[in-house]
Amino acid sequence: MTGVYPGSFDPFTLGHKDIVERALKFCNTLYIAVSDNINKKHLFSKEERVEMIRQTFKGNDKIIVESFQGLLVDYMLAKKASFIIRGLRAVSDFEYEFQMAFTNRNLESSIETIFMVPGSQYLFLSSTIVRDIARNNGDISKLVPKPVLEKFKKIY
Ligand code: PNS
Repeated sequence: MTGVYPGSFDPFTLGHKDIVERALKFCNTLYIAVSDNINKKHLFSKEERVEMIRQTFKGNDKIIVESFQGLLVDYMLAKKASFIIRGLRAVSDFEYEFQMAFTNRNLESSIETIFMVPGSQYLFLSSTIVRDIARNNGDISKLVPKPVLEKFKKIY
């Protein structure tokens, strides 16, 4: 099956990577679809985020990394993909994820959302936490893939 893993990924973390690896157990092709979240102010441009994720999965031909604009469901119809993959960490994610899943279903009833749980070491990892640690000169080497780490080294 073809899945789409959408997100703002600002930046992509090892928690996101863990979800991708789990999704590849049942997806022949997985689109990692980078977009802007209207409720967030982003640190990296969409192009920078796409580039870091592409480098992270270089050589893996089951993964296609792209950015998209507009509605996720429209992007999915264009890719002929019916499954949205989203990671769920804690109860606090639930309301937001539920709202998004139902919104997407209301917009396009053929599309299903599949929630996946990351490895327990990533339950409390988020892009916000990574940005905060990096900005304060903390060590993020165990939290992000190498290309993301290199990018942060350049800006801080
Ligand atoms: O990683 P995030 O920030 O939780 O990702 C949210 C994202 C980018 C997947 C979501 O905001 C999105 O799908 N944006 C595209 C516009 C859209 O389709 N909105 C309606 C569904 S909420």
